[in-house]
This record gives sequence, C-alpha cells and structure tokens, in this order.
Amino acid sequence: MNLSEMLLKLKIIMFGGKGGVGKTTCASSSAIWAAEHGRNTLIISTDPAHSLGDSLGIALPPGEPTKIPGVEGLTALEIDPKADMSEYKGLTGMSPVERMEIPDIMGELPMMEDLQDITSMSPPGIDEVFALLKVLEFIETDHDYDLVIFDTAPTGHTLRFLSLPETLSGWIGKLLKLRLKLGNLMGMMKSLFTSGEKKKDNSLEVLERLKDSIIRARDDLTNPMINSFVVVMIAEEMAISETGRLLNELLKYNIPISNIVVNQLYLDEEDLCDFCQSRRKMQASNLLKIQKVFRDKLGKELIEIPLFRGEIREYDNLKIFGEQLIK
Ligand SMILES: Nc1ncnc2c1ncn2[C@@H]1O[C@H](COP(=O)(O)OP(=O)(O)O)[C@@H](O)[C@H]1O
Ligand SMILES: [Mg+2]
Repeated sequence: MNLSEMLLKLKIIMFGGKGGVGKTTCASSSAIWAAEHGRNTLIISTDPAHSLGDSLGIALPPGEPTKIPGVEGLTALEIDPKADMSEYKGLTGMSPVERMEIPDIMGELPMMEDLQDITSMSPPGIDEVFALLKVLEFIETDHDYDLVIFDTAPTGHTLRFLSLPETLSGWIGKLLKLRLKLGNLMGMMKSLFTSGEKKKDNSLEVLERLKDSIIRARDDLTNPMINSFVVVMIAEEMAISETGRLLNELLKYNIPISNIVVNQLYLDEEDLCDFCQSRRKMQASNLLKIQKVFRDKLGKELIEIPLFRGEIREYDNLKIFGEQLIK
C-alpha cells in the first residue's frame, strides 16, 4: 500500500525514527493531506520533545485536542504525560512512581525474596505508560476521527512503548503470584495491626485493565488493514543502523511497515558547491545500501525526499513537502 492509499484507508498511521530526521514534518504534512481529502483527522504527538505545534504554526495547549484553523477536519494534540500521571493518582489513590512500602515485620518472613524482587522493579517506564494511556484512548475507545496519525518519540521511546504489555505482564505476574502466597497471611496480620476498617487496594485491577487494553490495542496496531508504521530516516550510516534496529523491533511485534521515507537528500544538481557535492556523494553510497537492504531484501517501499532550501514549517511549506511525500 502506498502512502496516499494508507492515508485514505487506514485508521492509524504512526511515524517514527531517529530524532531530527523529519518525523514531525512527514506526520503533519500527511495529516493536512488526509484532512483535505475528506478524512476527519487527529494528529497526536507522543514525543516528550513536542514540535507538532511549531510545525503546524499554532500553539497547542498540552493535553488538549485543538482544531487547526484553515484546515477543515484537522485536529492536533500534544499529549501531556504529567497531567496523565495525576489522573492516574486520582484513579488509584497511589502514585505510580512511589515505590511500594514494605512493613518492617515482613523482613522476617520467607517471601522477602519476592518482595525485594518487586520493589526493586519500579514500574517500567511508567511515564510512558501514561503517554500510552492517551494513545490507547484514541485507538480503543469510540471517537469521531476517521484517521489518527501518531508523531512518535525517537526510536528508543517507541520501542519501549511497544514492549509495555510484556513488561507489565511480567510485573503483574509477579504481583499476582505474591498475592496468592501472601493472601491469607496478610489478611491475618492486617486484622492484628490495623484498627478494623480496610482500605481497598485496587492497584492490581488497574494494572490488569491497563495490560488488557494495551493488548487489545495491539490487535489493532498489528492489523495491516488498520495501522501502518512509516519509518523516517536520512541517508547516513548511523540512521541505517538505527533504522535496522527499529525495523527488527517492529517486526518482532508484527507492526505492519510498508514505507520508509529517506529524507533530506541532496539532489544531483550541476551547480552544487564542494561541500554539498561531498555530502551528496556520502548520501548516494548510503542510499545504495538502503535500496539494497530495505527495498530489495525486505520489500519496503522507499520514498525519497530532497533536502529543501528552507525550513519546512507551517501550512504552505508542509503542502509543498506533502506533494513530494504523497504522490
Ligand atoms: N526535506 C527537508 N528539507 C529541509 N528541511 C527539512 C526537511 N525535512 C525536515 N526538515 C527540517 O528539519 C527539522 C527537523 O524536522 P522534524 O520533522 O522536526 O524532525 P523530527 O520530528 O524527526 O525530530 C525541521 O526544522 C524541519 O523543518
Ligand atoms: Mg518531531
């Protein structure tokens, strides 16, 4: 499926890759294109270093979906992980970043090993869990958008986001096991040491629900009729290695990838200066590698985009960029 078909048919498109390669530029020009082709489109930045508002040329209040003036059917959102943390605190009555406290008396008990195991694991990438909660909200719950485009965080973050169900599974698994072991004993102790009224601890249920919803969302994310991941890169050795790792991770989780954007290419022009000439040569040899490995071997469609003279931001430039990106 090429990018224009994807933008017309899919429900989710994610853009990802190394920092500075052009993810936000690709994501926002795609979002404008989709909206102008009649799809009610939401673009969400999950990158903690947001630049979506800068790219679109409008201030985006954190956490608030904002309609983009001048583009019918386009809404943009920069998620606010901090706000989501406090929502969570309200939800469960405990802060996810606080470590579990172990009563002193427990030190004498045989299951100390398990407890240490758990308390030494602070919840994995918990701030990302809350960024992810926002993502889940737009994948799983009903909404009016035809298409949701994600401008994701650079490679490392994206990978952690995708592995959350497994990490959480492990964590929940340990808690469950421990609960079973401790169940009766803890009950007995509580009634000995507390003055009767019990505070209900629903953290386990919350985590279970979270895990289930991530797994359900992943059903959508792995369905090529619903989602596709567009990898953005530049023609440099480092970007090739990093893209290789990203592709491996995406393959591991069965996330459909059809297109790879090779951005910021020097064109073969006659009047290139010395400096540009050597950059072009460097890129050309890397581009050959990219074509051989990512296109010929892995069967990905490459979209090659030239380096523009000016910065690509705001509507007019994004439209011009979009013409190159979406053919
Ligand atoms: N093909 C291009 N030609 C010229 N400038 C570009 C091109 N692609 C991206 N840029 C510029 O590079 C910078 C980084 O792009 P951005 O999309 O913010 O990257 P990322 O989101 O991957 O960090 C921006 O200032 C953008 O305008
Ligand atoms: Mg960006």
